[in-house]
Amino acid sequence: MKDKITNILSKIKPVVKAIEPYSLKHYRAPVKINQNENPYDMPDVIKTAVNKLMSEKAWCRYPDFVPSVLISQLAEFNQWKSDGILVGNGSNELIEALMIAAIEKNTKVLISQPTFTLYSMFAKMLGGNCKEVCLLPSLEFNVEGIRAESRQADLTIICSPNNPTGSLLEQDDLRLILKTSSGLVIVDEAYHEFSRQSVVSLLNDFENLIVLRTFSKAMSMAGLRVGYLMGNKKLVEQISKAKLPYNLNIFSMTAAMSALTHFDLLAPQIENVIAERERLQVRLKQIPGVLPFPSQANFIVFQLAGDPRIIFDSLFQDGILVRDVSRYPMLDQCLRVTVGLPQENDRFITSLTKIMRHA
Ligand SMILES: Cc1ncc(COP(=O)(O)O)c(C=O)c1O
Repeated sequence: MKDKITNILSKIKPVVKAIEPYSLKHYRAPVKINQNENPYDMPDVIKTAVNKLMSEKAWCRYPDFVPSVLISQLAEFNQWKSDGILVGNGSNELIEALMIAAIEKNTKVLISQPTFTLYSMFAKMLGGNCKEVCLLPSLEFNVEGIRAESRQADLTIICSPNNPTGSLLEQDDLRLILKTSSGLVIVDEAYHEFSRQSVVSLLNDFENLIVLRTFSKAMSMAGLRVGYLMGNKKLVEQISKAKLPYNLNIFSMTAAMSALTHFDLLAPQIENVIAERERLQVRLKQIPGVLPFPSQANFIVFQLAGDPRIIFDSLFQDGILVRDVSRYPMLDQCLRVTVGLPQENDRFITSLTKIMRHA
């Protein structure tokens, strides 16, 4: 029996077997501030409107092959062309499609690290030759390093604001990278609303730029899985070949359209998260042995004078779930906390203060 499974496993690509799976242990805690979700749920007005629309639609029919109404709304919302937009089942699906379309054996992929794990995982699985440029010790982007390496790269991948550090790449620095890079430059703006900035306007000047977005964070829709990609029409046409047909279900599509229509209801929630992030920064700085890094996202990475795994466990015992990022490059002394509701943030600060007295 053992020999048979060994034989069968030999059919799996060695690069796949060498990769650590991207998964999150299923911890449950009363204060869940570990996944960069929005602590404010979708406003009831939008939920009610979506439920009503869904009860009037035929569920037995496939969605439109291209969700053109949603795409037109996104085009207007972002001041970008409809034919340069692709919608996906979460931005994860579009990351996958983009990589399938662009990466083969030995494709040169440059990734600024530490960052969202999925990028290097897929690049390696597809045979890409990954090169990493680390952030500076301040956790700011190493612009010169990225610029130098991206001259030779087929793909340069930058998450801005970056997950898990919250670092932001300034638009002028991206402009420099785009000018000198010989390949595609992907900017993942999953958290851009929390920085009140975007690089979308650069799409007009640079045909090698691709911007990824999600409805999972600021738009309070992580459970519904909607993301989108913006880029040059001809590039988007090619990438769309690698995504599955009917990838966006009608419920998620309807919810995304309503969220855009009622964005005025979501905007104040985003401002609340930003204000809470700034309050958390101040409170974290006041705890002896804790050093938070500046963040333009809805989370903060903080360095600890003590073993982060033990501190993670102590917080968990106290009912608080944060993210252990200590296995990421450069972050071996760090944990990451997502900005929660004010009362959740207070509970987290009280607990961490108590734990650090004994760390
Ligand atoms: C930088 C970044 N990109 C993409 C994603 C995935 O987003 P989605 O929920 O749209 O698949 C995440 C999720 O945490 C992320 O941090």
